[in-house]
This record gives sequence, structure tokens and C-alpha cells, in this order.
Amino acid sequence: MAPKIAILFYSMYGHIEQLAKAEAGGIKSAGGTVDLYRVPETLPEEVLTKMHAPAKDSSIPTLDSPKTLEQYDGILFGIPTRYGNHVAQFRQFWDSTGGQWQTGGFWGKYAGLFVSTATQGGGQESTALATMSTFAHHGFIYVPLGYKTVFPDLGDNSEVRGGSAWGAGTFASGDGSRQPTEKELRVATAQGKMFYETVARVNFA
Ligand SMILES: Cc1cc2nc3c(=O)[nH]c(=O)nc-3n(C[C@H](O)[C@H](O)[C@H](O)COP(=O)(O)O)c2cc1C
Repeated sequence: MAPKIAILFYSMYGHIEQLAKAEAGGIKSAGGTVDLYRVPETLPEEVLTKMHAPAKDSSIPTLDSPKTLEQYDGILFGIPTRYGNHVAQFRQFWDSTGGQWQTGGFWGKYAGLFVSTATQGGGQESTALATMSTFAHHGFIYVPLGYKTVFPDLGDNSEVRGGSAWGAGTFASGDGSRQPTEKELRVATAQGKMFYETVARVNFA
């Protein structure tokens, strides 16, 4: 039986969404299937307009309930940074998972992450580290990206690049104008592939 994989992400300006689609491509390239979900929005339309957030592509469903995730064996989380930590919409989601925390609804599931910040040094690694605490409380088994499958890209400093051993990443720039590069998308694709293969190997071999 093939493992069931989901990607849960929040994306206000589309950067994490592009990485999420690349991760999904990697999962599919490994022979897997994946369901994408958005974290529910918490801001009113009026505020989103003031923040210049474009309309969200409705072909990707918004997660109706944390319970929906209980059917999956592995979940990749796409998290944009706010002040070096999770975007509030994601924290709001985590705060709604008390039921799974109490009953172990996510216990023993595999989890990975990818991130986006405006700038280098803006908190890619601190956002990843902050996620470890939440993963630990739920009993998620964290699958790091590591270097093995992406050494040429992570080991090369010839161009600005987001992402690290913790997971794929991109830089949006202060005004959001920078888009994920070919290399960042390649790392995200490799992470999706590696994540699927890891979950398949440990759980379903
Ligand atoms: C209120 C606020 C706080 C932010 N804090 C940070 C930060 O601490 N470091 C950083 O590099 N970028 C910061 N950003 C930029 C976001 O991380 C960036 O908009 C996001 O990664 C883009 O991803 P998205 O297009 O998927 O929403 C902040 C943005 C907002 C609106």
C-alpha cells in the first residue's frame, strides 16, 4: 500500500505556494500522490487588500478541519516567516489541533517543512527550529531534507538561494518581487521526492 501524503501550506503572496507545487511534483515523480490544502485565512478581506495580497487560487481547497489530516501518513508543511517565526495563520491552525495533541491523532506521522522569508537572515532556520517544538508535542517524526539528495545545490554559494538542511526555502525580498529561482524550485522538488521515498521506505516496504 502506498503512503498517503498531504501538503498543508499558507501563502499570502504565492511564494510558498510555488514551492508547494514543486514539492508535489517531486512526490509525483517518485510515483506518489499528494493532496494540497491551504491553512484557513484569519484576516478579513479588507486587511488582505491593504496588505496587497492577491486572491487565492480556489482550486486548492482550504483545510476544513485538522481531523482531515489524520488520514495521511506524511505531511509537508509550507510556512512563511513573520518576525523569524510562523505566520499567525499557521499558529492559529496549530492552536486548533488540541484534539490531535490529546488523542495522538498526528502521533507517529512523518513531517517535513519548507519556508519563505523576505530576506537572507530573515528567519528561515529560526522558523524551522520553532516548528520542532510543535512537531515534538504532536509526536510527528521529522524528516529533514539533509544534504544527501541536494548537495550540489545546497553546497553551492554562487547565487542567492533559500533553503537549508531543514527544508526547501525561498526569499521573497522586502517588496515580494523576487520569485522562487530554478534552483530553489529544484530543491523543493527534490525534497518532495525524498520525503515520499522516505515515508514509503520506512512504513510500506
Ligand atoms: C508582518 C510581516 C512580518 C514579516 N516578518 C519577516 C521576517 O521576520 N523575516 C523575513 O525575512 N521576512 C518577513 N516577512 C516577509 C514574509 O516572510 C514574506 O512575505 C513571505 O515569506 C512570502 O511568502 P508568501 O508569498 O508565500 O506569502 C514578513 C512579512 C510580514 C507581512
